[in-house]
Amino acid sequence: MLVSAKEMLLKAKKEKYAVGQFNINNLEWTKAVLLTAQECNSPVILGVSEGAGKYMCGYKTVVGMVKGMIEELGITVPVALHLDHGSFEHALKVIEAGFSSVMFDGSHYSIEENIEKTKEVIRLAHEKGLSVEAEVGSIGGEEDGVVGGGEVADVAECKMIADLGVDMLAAGIGNIHGKYPENWTGLRFDVLEKISEETSPMPLVLHGGTGIPADMIQKAISLGVSKINVNTECQLSFAEATRKYVEAGKDLEGKGFDPRKLLAPGTEAIKATVKEKMELFGSVNKA
Ligand code: G3H
Ligand code: ZN
Repeated sequence: MLVSAKEMLLKAKKEKYAVGQFNINNLEWTKAVLLTAQECNSPVILGVSEGAGKYMCGYKTVVGMVKGMIEELGITVPVALHLDHGSFEHALKVIEAGFSSVMFDGSHYSIEENIEKTKEVIRLAHEKGLSVEAEVGSIGGEEDGVVGGGEVADVAECKMIADLGVDMLAAGIGNIHGKYPENWTGLRFDVLEKISEETSPMPLVLHGGTGIPADMIQKAISLGVSKINVNTECQLSFAEATRKYVEAGKDLEGKGFDPRKLLAPGTEAIKATVKEKMELFGSVNKA
């Protein structure tokens, strides 16, 4: 069954590891992430962006697919199904559709509006047992149509949002969605440390997990990050494995064109990426 992310993240915060949020894009992605979590005995958060939700034919379809897969595959580790970077309207939709966690991304509103809308999402989500993620500052780059300026979060605003009763807080600390530029100057650990002091024991969320060096990941976890989001890296590994399959002409051999064969290398590549991240985040055997 689906669980909210609250308990798994409080445990991660206490025991100094992070739970991975891996965005899903279709059946194969969902299967790859769930099976890897089960094999690693790791809690996991399935992230669904608004665009991915639309691509997968709506939030109720996603809920049905994930719940069915958990049952059919015998998944026993904690799984949260989480709307990623949700607008107010879509946050309300997933609460109704049966998700177990929701991010309301109010970072593009004024802090006053962000507070008002976050309060309402918290009220409605908590009524149904969902966990809530809020964002302060913004994550740079672009993620499925969500473009951020990369403003570093204001510590006082983080405290204000945390005090509303959210279950996890994403703060812009120089992190970027997608591939990091060559001239990237790294994460603002000075700001992260202050936010952590001001909001503890609130689990903090690091978006833009793709390509952040292992030592920075470990330092972020030591400073209070308990949820780390990864999407692009799984997409890149899927694309590379699929390309290799086609370039090797395997789609032309026998029934190699069968989509279940064509998608298999990419699905295995997602599993390998997810496993590598779970090991890096320290969530293996933490279910
Ligand atoms: O919200 C999703 C994550 O922040 C994904 O970031 O695509 O850079 O790994 P990423
Ligand atoms: Zn993100």
